[in-house]
Amino acid sequence: MGYAETYQRWRSDPERFWMQAAEAIDWERKPTRALFDERSPIYEWFSDGLVNTCWNAVDRHVAAGRGDQPAIIHDSPITGTKSVLTYAELQDRVARLAGALQARGVEKGDRVVIYMPMVPEALVAMLACARIGAIHSVVFGGFAAHELAVRIDDAKPKAIIAASCGIEPGRVVEYKPLVDSAIEQAQHKPDFTIILQRDQARADMIPGRDLDWHEAQEGIEPAPCIPVEGNHPVYILYTSGTTGAPKGVVRPTAGHLVALNWTMRNIYDVGPGDVFWAASDVGWVVGHSYICYGPLIAGCTTIVFEGKPVGTPDAGTFWRVIAEHGVRSFFTAPTALRAIKREDPEGKLIGQYDLSGLRALFLAGERADPDTVQWAQRHLKVPVIDHWWQTETGWAIAANPIGIEELPVKIGSPSVAMPGYDVEVLDEGGHPVPPGTLGAIAVRLPLPPGTLPTLWNAEERFRKSYLSHFPGYYETGDAGYIDEDGYLYIMARTDDVINVAGHRLSTGAMEEVLASHPDVAECAVIGVADDLKGQVPLGFLCLNAGSNRKPDEVVAECVRLVREQIGPVAAFKQAVVVDRLPKTRSGKILRGTMAKIADAQDFRMPATIDDPAILDEIREALGALGYPRSKR
Ligand code: COA
Ligand code: AMP
Repeated sequence: MGYAETYQRWRSDPERFWMQAAEAIDWERKPTRALFDERSPIYEWFSDGLVNTCWNAVDRHVAAGRGDQPAIIHDSPITGTKSVLTYAELQDRVARLAGALQARGVEKGDRVVIYMPMVPEALVAMLACARIGAIHSVVFGGFAAHELAVRIDDAKPKAIIAASCGIEPGRVVEYKPLVDSAIEQAQHKPDFTIILQRDQARADMIPGRDLDWHEAQEGIEPAPCIPVEGNHPVYILYTSGTTGAPKGVVRPTAGHLVALNWTMRNIYDVGPGDVFWAASDVGWVVGHSYICYGPLIAGCTTIVFEGKPVGTPDAGTFWRVIAEHGVRSFFTAPTALRAIKREDPEGKLIGQYDLSGLRALFLAGERADPDTVQWAQRHLKVPVIDHWWQTETGWAIAANPIGIEELPVKIGSPSVAMPGYDVEVLDEGGHPVPPGTLGAIAVRLPLPPGTLPTLWNAEERFRKSYLSHFPGYYETGDAGYIDEDGYLYIMARTDDVINVAGHRLSTGAMEEVLASHPDVAECAVIGVADDLKGQVPLGFLCLNAGSNRKPDEVVAECVRLVREQIGPVAAFKQAVVVDRLPKTRSGKILRGTMAKIADAQDFRMPATIDDPAILDEIREALGALGYPRSKR
């Protein structure tokens, strides 16, 4: 059955489609139906089933006799180490850590924050929580203590699991002082922490609160899997929204299992025993779905890669990993390929490795620019598949489902809607627009299994952020169009979220930090085009009247402040002091217009602009920073 028939099969009977997909999952108690729409527009899937994520990701493969198969390969060029965990070993480690959590009072429904670099223990920690029905919330290591504190206060974890350090090129990032500072800043205090000591920087422990990873597990009874209701959250993952307060995306257990398992065969074309590699980080949704859960649920071998696309040690690292471990499907962000292309434009290093086992390259996280896609096609000689999704959905909204049918690739498009997603492009009034017309991309409710039913402790915010603008739809926050063949084109965000090196960041959050600087009266942050990272943030600062501070000093302090408050991942490195910001007559800052000037894009003068002359001042300030640099 091809794509069109499969999509039609879903469309004509979604209930049957998802109940059939659910048969691939081991249930403690089978659900009586797929969709639970009693509380619409809040939807749930498989709610009356009983199921355990860890059983499906680990134990069932051991029970099926595949205990000796590698489950996790850790390849860490940054520390010069490699190791393998079989499914049986993984089961043992997960059950023991789960036992240690239980022994200290962590129960079903309790939250556990995980703050770890790319080590196998990060996955062990996630699975250990899932094993006992505890809800994990992984925080990306590139976020600073303050961001960690914000998440601790929202999730109110009973425990924090962390490593003593992560390793970035040229520096060891000590995580433990960040954890200590976050706990100090947070109102909520976890009962205990479990710390994985790494030799690169051993952590100072606070007696009575901090437990050593290994010591905490000594003499512990391994914990069995606890079945949970289908709608029980397996995790919360915070993502950037319009304001500084991150959104806690809730991932329900059963829909997550069913949907991810479906994607492994149908989108990524892998099955039990195949090696799947997503070169992302466990702190992002890609890491949750496709480093940890998806490949393990499907019985694949997953790779935990601790390194960078370039510099660890060179731009051939990715190709070495693919050749050495026999990767069949590979997933990365376009920015990583741009970094490689910049160092190895002719793809010479690619030629040094045997990539004959590679079936396809998948790209997501940001717009895949045609140059990068064509470069990869030319040098890798496999299908290069752009696909589009979000933290909220947990899996692809649009893709080229090569496991079902390899559709023609249209460069610039992440291809077509996946079963479960009825995607439409709407005008401001919420009416569908004809093919080829730009508009807001929305998905008709209900969203499919595995997507967010709500935000953690914030149902009103969920409704307001996603459901209220276009009643009956989920608003994606992306703008674009659909062509005559049903291919989607994702062009821009409709909110103030920017995408830096495939990382989703909030300009609003950065503005909140800048506004806290004592000399800053007013500010704005925009995303400007960047050849490597896709976008980078740029700040405009208006100083307090009468301030006699040197602009350069304030800029340097602001750059430091964002790094300290949000973290290095924000990549906030440039700002400029201006006298005034361009605004509408009602006082709204014209960020979009400023971004268009920075990127040398055509724009129409906003009819409501208060004083057009300010745009000349902005143009001048941008010129001093070397903008426009490139045209997107
Ligand atoms: N812990 C601590 N710090 C981290 C970190 C982590 N886990 N991850 C990144 N950082 C730091 C980096 O060291 C860097 O700090 P610096 O300002 O001192 O240099 C900063 O955060 C920005 O990091 P990054 O965006 O990774 O940029 P980079 O310049 O270090 O590397 C690329 C550029 C293109 C190589 C890199 O961005 C990359 O690998 N991108 C792929 C992104 C990706 O896979 N995204 C997945 C989303 S699906
Ligand atoms: P995140 O929640 O971090 O995965 O970021 C999701 C956002 O990244 C989307 O809403 C898009 O703006 C952008 N994005 C992700 N994948 C793609 C893609 N394939 N093409 C264009 N934009 C993408």
